[in-house]
Amino acid sequence: MDVIFIGSFFVWVLFLLCSLDLCAGQIVYSVTEEGNKATVVGNVAKDLNLNVNDLQSGQFHIVNGLNKNYFEVNLKTGELYVGERIDRENICLTSQTCTLNIEAIAQNPLRLFSIGIDILDINDNSPLFPIKTYHLNITESAFHGDRFPLPKASDADVGINSIRSYKLSQNDYFSLDVQNNGGHSVSAELVLQKALDREKMTVITLILTAIDGGKPPRSGIVEIVVDVVDVNDNTPTFSQQLYKRIPLRLNFTFKRRTGPHILAHLIVKC
Ligand SMILES: *[C@@H]1O[C@H](CO)[C@@H](O)[C@H](O)[C@H]1NC(C)=O
Ligand SMILES: *[C@@H]1O[C@H](CO)[C@@H](O)[C@H](O)[C@H]1NC(C)=O
Repeated sequence: MDVIFIGSFFVWVLFLLCSLDLCAGQIVYSVTEEGNKATVVGNVAKDLNLNVNDLQSGQFHIVNGLNKNYFEVNLKTGELYVGERIDRENICLTSQTCTLNIEAIAQNPLRLFSIGIDILDINDNSPLFPIKTYHLNITESAFHGDRFPLPKASDADVGINSIRSYKLSQNDYFSLDVQNNGGHSVSAELVLQKALDREKMTVITLILTAIDGGKPPRSGIVEIVVDVVDVNDNTPTFSQQLYKRIPLRLNFTFKRRTGPHILAHLIVKC
């Protein structure tokens, strides 16, 4: 509520000053998030056409809002600099663009300037899977080429610093198909390459790695545990100890009768 109130208050003041022809056009700077304190963003005196000698006497000051001193101004030089740590993901969450709006106020004469500062993303977050281990049941009867969706990782960074690709650990049974859904979302599926046989392998453990596009890239992993499910494909075998072999002797007697009938006598001797 406070944030909205402060924000709308400044919009209102700006509107009022603009209607009184006291406001100048907006200037826009950009600065990288997580930069050092005192990193210079730009020279406001120069860019707002203010005489640097008038800054102190004119009680020039910056209003940040949000109870944060993200930016401060050096009244001797007119330089706007970073006042405290800026975490883009904390300010703008997953938004693709992130602009902080601050106001600069000069008095004698009273003037109000609006300054926009684009906060540029750095690759300070790694891809993260929602779970540590993902279980998958696949029956032995699954076909070559069958597909199995895998969990997606998320990355708090945006653009090039978000997830670009997935990689699967070396194994004999599956390949990975990575789909890039229009650059915004990348997902992956397991594709069966070789028939599964529970009698040979009951569990297949794989590692799926999500990789972002940062320089250097960051990555995150999830363990994929495939349980090979039985489809009862083996005829039962009986052990010698439980079942005694019974010798069978067969004695057939074929007798030709009148007519087309054939009579067979079957004598089983144990
Ligand atoms: C796999 O199968 C077992 C046994 O039927 C079941 O308990 C388990 O929930 C299944 N797991 C998944 C991920 O479907
Ligand atoms: C088979 O059956 C016939 C007639 O019942 C009998 O004569 C013969 O001896 C039998 N043969 C054997 C090997 O048991």
